[in-house]
Amino acid sequence: MTSIVRVGLIGCGNIGARAHAPAYAHIPSAQLVAVCDVNTTRAHAVARATGATPYFDYHEVLARDDIDAVDICLPTYLHAAVSVEALRQGKHVLCEKPMAVTLEEADAMITAAREANRVLMIGHVRRFDPRYTTVKHALVQGEIGHLVHVRRAERQHLPFPGDAWYWHPHAGGGIFLDIGVHVTDLFHWYFATEPETIFALGRQIRPEAQAARSFDHAVLLITFPDGRIAQAEISWAYPPHFGRSQYALLELIGTQGRLVYSDRDAAPMLVYDSNDGLDLPTYFRFMSALEEAFVAEIAHFIAVVRGEAELLITPEDARTALALAIAAETSAREQRPVSWQEVAP
Ligand SMILES: NC(=O)c1ccc[n+]([C@@H]2O[C@H](COP(=O)([O-])OP(=O)(O)OC[C@H]3O[C@@H](n4cnc5c(N)ncnc54)[C@H](O)[C@@H]3O)[C@@H](O)[C@H]2O)c1
Repeated sequence: MTSIVRVGLIGCGNIGARAHAPAYAHIPSAQLVAVCDVNTTRAHAVARATGATPYFDYHEVLARDDIDAVDICLPTYLHAAVSVEALRQGKHVLCEKPMAVTLEEADAMITAAREANRVLMIGHVRRFDPRYTTVKHALVQGEIGHLVHVRRAERQHLPFPGDAWYWHPHAGGGIFLDIGVHVTDLFHWYFATEPETIFALGRQIRPEAQAARSFDHAVLLITFPDGRIAQAEISWAYPPHFGRSQYALLELIGTQGRLVYSDRDAAPMLVYDSNDGLDLPTYFRFMSALEEAFVAEIAHFIAVVRGEAELLITPEDARTALALAIAAETSAREQRPVSWQEVAP
C-alpha cells in the first residue's frame, strides 16, 4: 500500500484524546478521518481538535469502506470484541494494551487477524519509548553482559473514582492487567526467552480496590531458565500527591555490569560497567518522552499496514505479556506459584 492510511479512532477518553488523537498530526502517511465515543462531548471535542468526523456508534466507523484501520482506545473489557469485529470487517487494528481480559479473548483476536489477513498490533508503548529502547539496545550490544536479574517498579496514584471500570477485576483487570502487563512485556522483551514460574502477592490497599475486590498493589516475581529472576512492584496505591505520572525504577544486572534508572529522581540513566565503573552521563529522556513514544508506536503500525515494516511486537508477544499478568493475578489470588506451562499457548 502506498496511499495514505485512513484511520478511525474508537474511544476518545484519556489515552485516545490525549495521546493517540494528537499523534496523527505527526504521521504524514496516515489520516485520522473518524473519531468515535459513546460520550458525545468527548467525540465532538476530539473531532474539533483533529478535523475528523465524529461518531457515537463504532459500527458506523467499521461500516465505512474508505477506512483502512481502526485505533482502539476503549476500556479493556471491550478490546477483544471490537477488535475481532473490526478485523472481520477487513480493518487493520491497533488496540491499546492490555490485549484483552482473558486468554480466550486474546486467542480469538489472533485467529481473527490471521483469517482476515489484517495487521493486529497491541499498543505496548514501552517498546517505542526511547527510555526502554535505549535499555534494550544496551542489552543487545552486550553492555552489561548476559542479563541475570531485573528489578522494576511502576507506581502511581490511580486518579479515577471507585465506579470507574479501571477498578473492576473483570473490566480493567486491576493492577495486574493494567500496569502489570507493561512490566511483564518488558521482562519478556528484555529476557527474550520463555519464563518458567510466576509468583505474586496482591494487596487491596485503597477503599476503591477493597470495594471492587481487585488488587491495587502487588509484588511479582518471574523466573527464567538458568535461575534468572525478574521482580517488580506495581501499585496504584501511592498517595495522591504523587500525581498522575508513574514513579518508575528499573535496574538490570548482567554478568558484566549493571544498568539503572529512575524516572522522577532526575537521575540520568547510569551504566556501571566492569571496565570503567560508572559511565556518566548517558543521554536519557524522562516521562516527557511519552507523547513521542505514542507517535513512534502509531507510526510503526502505519508502516506495517503500508507493508514498509515488520511488526516489532507481534500479537503473540502481547498474548505472552497478558498470560504472565493473568498468571500473576492467579498466583496472588490462589497464593501459589504458577507454572508458565499453565498459561502458555
Ligand atoms: N499505553 C498506555 O500507557 C496506556 C495508558 C492509559 C490507558 N491505556 C489503556 O487504554 C485503554 C483506555 O484507557 P483510558 O484511560 O483512555 O480509558 P477512558 O475510560 O478514559 O476512555 C475510554 C473511552 O471509551 C469510551 N467508550 C466506552 N464504551 C464505548 C463504546 N462502546 N463505543 C465507543 N466508545 C466507548 C468511553 O466513553 C471513554 O471515553 C485501556 O485499555 C487502558 O488500559 C494505556
